[in-house]
Amino acid sequence: MKNPPKIADATGKLGVLLVGMGAVSTTTIAGVLAVRRGLAPPIGSLTQMGTIRLGKRTEGRSPLIKNFIPLASLDRVVFGAWDIFEENAFEAAKTAGVLEADLLEKIRPELEAIKPMSAVFDRRYVKRLDGPNVKKGKSKKDLAEQLIEDMRRFKKANNCDRLVMVWCGSTEVFLTESPAHATLSAFEKALEANDDSIPSSMIYAYAAIQEGIPYANAAPNLSADVPALIELAATTGSPLAGKDLKTGQTLIKTIIAPGLKARLLGVEGWYSTNILGNRDGEVLDDPESFKTKEESKKSVLDYILQPNLYPELYKDLCHVVRINYYPPRGDNKEGWDNIDIFGWLNYKMQLKVNFLCRDSILAAPIVLDVALFLDLAGRAGMEGIQEWLSFYFKSPMHAPGLYPEHDLFIQSMKLKNTLRFLRGEDLITHLGLEYYD
Ligand SMILES: NC(=O)c1ccc[n+]([C@@H]2O[C@H](COP(=O)([O-])OP(=O)(O)OC[C@H]3O[C@@H](n4cnc5c(N)ncnc54)[C@H](O)[C@@H]3O)[C@@H](O)[C@H]2O)c1
Repeated sequence: MKNPPKIADATGKLGVLLVGMGAVSTTTIAGVLAVRRGLAPPIGSLTQMGTIRLGKRTEGRSPLIKNFIPLASLDRVVFGAWDIFEENAFEAAKTAGVLEADLLEKIRPELEAIKPMSAVFDRRYVKRLDGPNVKKGKSKKDLAEQLIEDMRRFKKANNCDRLVMVWCGSTEVFLTESPAHATLSAFEKALEANDDSIPSSMIYAYAAIQEGIPYANAAPNLSADVPALIELAATTGSPLAGKDLKTGQTLIKTIIAPGLKARLLGVEGWYSTNILGNRDGEVLDDPESFKTKEESKKSVLDYILQPNLYPELYKDLCHVVRINYYPPRGDNKEGWDNIDIFGWLNYKMQLKVNFLCRDSILAAPIVLDVALFLDLAGRAGMEGIQEWLSFYFKSPMHAPGLYPEHDLFIQSMKLKNTLRFLRGEDLITHLGLEYYD
């Protein structure tokens, strides 16, 4: 095994640049401001509340993760954002309707000070939206250069030591890898030529990676997950993570499915349906954006259940995913899962899950953790795909030739072992035979 890298200190300010200032972004920003003021606890965030066991169970060493590894502290974080709408973060948080007015009032001046920079946006890729705060450029290359200027200006104006970028913009239409994504030189030619295969999210990703800034993707768009941008990250040192935050129904799916498989219970069908009324739901009402989301949501069961290894249990699984745009519910999504399972001697059973969740409340701590962990990766010189952050994503980025790991419990072990490795601590295998010697 390689030796642990040296990790640079987390001193100075960390600028967290969010693309899109909608429900997820404003809930993240307002949440961090509220936590910083002691108005509410950072529930759901591993970097703020998680502990990590070190050494043997008999040693009683379980520090908080944030005391174990050098992470940027919340009072050193500054937020910036781009959006196609001009509303500041206070107004945008009100539009998103996730957090209560009283909490927002308490942090109003800080939220009002966050005004979105003008966006790189093209309706071709998000058909249900349009807004006034959009950049003009001669080419996609020119737009990328304008984003780089924005980042440099932000960094200087806010006296930041480091930046990270997280795409929290809308889900774009479904795109597959094309020749323009295959190499960096093809990609750069395509940027100059305004090639249709380069959507807005790839222009942001390119700009961040070009600057050596860590980049994460909270949506299912291809974005940085193409060979050209992975090639660029290897030269500029940007750590990458994505895609599509694992919240709501998929989070529950990746908690239940590994349990059914561990006990060798068969699954004949898994029907998942949702109602969702926020702007994300409206964008996903467009079939082309929905297709991107559907692909991301459907793949998890195939990888967790491994039908190739267990054909009698999972080969004929019928997996259906539906999202219905239903405005009265706003951000408070309701999901129903009907799972048809079978056990000993093929006897059939059913499991029903009705999850009344708050999408952005589940997403915000992930955005925070991913931003802080990617900053850590940057300071530790870990470039390219950070598979140890799979824990947070529905479609984890992975090296070519590997299958992605979707099982939440394996992902959690991988994340914590990576932190132990980075600090030169023994990895925990859970073998435990030594306690009985
Ligand atoms: N809420 C969740 O739990 C969750 C989970 C997984 C993934 N996601 C994904 O995260 C993304 C954000 O979700 P949300 O609920 O905040 O949606 P939202 O619609 O509230 O916010 C998205 C924002 O992005 C802006 N935007 C779109 N394209 C842009 C561009 N090119 N440049 C700058 N801004 C742009 C929109 O104007 C909007 O304000 C979506 O893609 C969603 O699918 C959300």
